[in-house]
Amino acid sequence: MKKIAIIGTGYVGLVSGAGLSEFGHHVICADIDQTKISKLESGKITIYEPGLEELIHKNVKAGRLRFSIDTASAIKSSDIIFIAVGTPQSENGEADLSAIKAVAINISNNLNSYKIISTKSTVPVGTGKWIESIIYSHNPQTKFDYVSNPEFLREGSSVKNFMHPDRIIIGTRSKKSSEIMKDVYHPLFINEPPLLDVSVETAEMIKYASNAFLALKISYINEIANLCEAVGADVHQVARAMGKDGRISPKFLHPGPGFGGSCFPKDTQALAAMGREQNSPLLTIESAIEANKKQNIRMIDKLETLVGRELKGLTIAVLGLSFKPETDDVRGAPSRLIVPKLLSLGAKINAYDPIASENFKLHYPEINYAHSWKNAVKEADACIILTEWNEFRGIDLTELKGLMKSPIVLDTKNILSMLNLEKLDFKYDNVGRKPSA
Ligand SMILES: NC(=O)c1ccc[n+]([C@@H]2O[C@H](COP(=O)([O-])OP(=O)(O)OC[C@H]3O[C@@H](n4cnc5c(N)ncnc54)[C@H](O)[C@@H]3O)[C@@H](O)[C@H]2O)c1
Repeated sequence: MKKIAIIGTGYVGLVSGAGLSEFGHHVICADIDQTKISKLESGKITIYEPGLEELIHKNVKAGRLRFSIDTASAIKSSDIIFIAVGTPQSENGEADLSAIKAVAINISNNLNSYKIISTKSTVPVGTGKWIESIIYSHNPQTKFDYVSNPEFLREGSSVKNFMHPDRIIIGTRSKKSSEIMKDVYHPLFINEPPLLDVSVETAEMIKYASNAFLALKISYINEIANLCEAVGADVHQVARAMGKDGRISPKFLHPGPGFGGSCFPKDTQALAAMGREQNSPLLTIESAIEANKKQNIRMIDKLETLVGRELKGLTIAVLGLSFKPETDDVRGAPSRLIVPKLLSLGAKINAYDPIASENFKLHYPEINYAHSWKNAVKEADACIILTEWNEFRGIDLTELKGLMKSPIVLDTKNILSMLNLEKLDFKYDNVGRKPSA
């Protein structure tokens, strides 16, 4: 079993660390965030992910997983170092690699023996080479192998994805490092996930090409949904029929308020920026980004049309703040664009999310936070659903109508029954399913 250090204990670092310790490896999850590490050390969880808390407790108890603020010692005492720090979007759309650089320097200062240095963070093509050059320039005598091992976990089901990956990408420059990485993932081989041995640069590109394709698919179905509204077709039936074609697949054909989250918005921007820099523009991705911006604004227009007057002074219930169900992550969520827009139009917001309110409050402390959907919609002039939490799928529409000041609902996730909304005389709208369809 390997000794592994994970540098960066956020969504990816924590799930990967817990997953790798479950394989039997000895893992130290390190981070520069003292609050985060203290919380984890005291047995508390820092993010919400189904199954993660149990997995962490189990492996901490077994002595295979620990947390540390001392990144230098974590590096020194490990054979394999995974880099899992954030790569947010910078002003010009490119990925901000400042945290990656800081970690590369930290590693170079603490390389006391041969190690594998592997990046899980999503980084532009060429970053591997750059990390290698940083390490060599700080520590010319050093011996290490660099591996690109992009992470494909999906928030909301990341533990499951980590334990049952669709594929494992190992981008290496040497047979030795490829073999070591195969050992790391060996416990997974019983399920035979495809393991793709590629170059570092190819591995880096696979991650961006995959994420951007999914974002593109969402923008595509959103535009088809908008056209469905104009021509009186039903996008659900269109998407369902499209998905029956194995070449298309039914996944990521759900229309909504636009793609969001901590990855798609920044990864599409970074890939587009890479294309522009290389004079090889990605026109499809540039368009998907543009279509996504418009989709967000479209939701505000829809709400204004539904309400039939300006939103100033009205109380809007916002149901769902996380970018998707089963996560407390609000980074890049549609709510992050729609709520401030509603506030700028003078609306009063009553928001509710089953678990993401605390994270949202860090950005918008001024709005009202309700403890249930029922409290959020009480006396509201209109309600907008932004996340398809199961709890919202089961909303009793008679009760909803009774609680609201006026029965107006914008269902941007198409989770409520149009038939029942109509029966109860709601004024409602959704994405791509005109009531007349
Ligand atoms: N979140 C996802 O679903 C997901 C999925 C696949 C890939 N990724 C990629 O993985 C990377 C990490 O994403 P995330 O969502 O886990 O980010 P995150 O912001 O949740 O976590 C990053 C962590 O790195 C820590 N950090 C920053 N600088 C550091 C340093 N110098 N030394 C040690 N720790 C440091 C931060 O304190 C933070 O805890 C990104 O590149 C992202 O694109 C994310």
